[in-house]
Amino acid sequence: MRGGALALAAVPSFGLSAAACSPSGGKPPGTVATPAPGRLVFLAETCPTCHGHGREGTNTGPALDRLRRHWDEDTLVRFLHNPAAFKLLDPRLAALAQRYRSDMPPLFAADERRVRALARYLLQE
Ligand code: HEC
Repeated sequence: MRGGALALAAVPSFGLSAAACSPSGGKPPGTVATPAPGRLVFLAETCPTCHGHGREGTNTGPALDRLRRHWDEDTLVRFLHNPAAFKLLDPRLAALAQRYRSDMPPLFAADERRVRALARYLLQE
């Protein structure tokens, strides 16, 4: 005898909801330039959580604009790997950091080309 009802039937399926996450905004192909490789790195890492998807800043991280005034590509690459060290050396960064509750985390990307592409993207106005 196989008594008892199947109680596990109510597991929801999320299969369709993933389609709503497309970052392209539904624009027709050919009207928008392909995003810079560094922008794709920015979006793939945790950066937008604190700096915003358009680098506009959030309440956990500053806006990332006009960075050329403070950084060149090589220095920015080193900063991304070790922001805490730069905070000790640079009073501007120390003051900036005090406005936010969490620290800027180090980037552990293994592929140096990705980090360089990210730095180049950040230096674009
Ligand atoms: C947890 C929040 C957080 C995340 C995630 C984060 N940052 Fe930051 N970031 C900060 C804060 C806070 C500062 C201010 C300075 C500091 O704390 O070092 C900062 C500073 C910076 C600066 C220096 C800004 C200036 O005015 O010179 C750059 C560039 C930067 N972040 C890039 C990035 C990139 C690229 C990523 C992703 C790889 C990232 N951040 C991820 C919080 C974050």
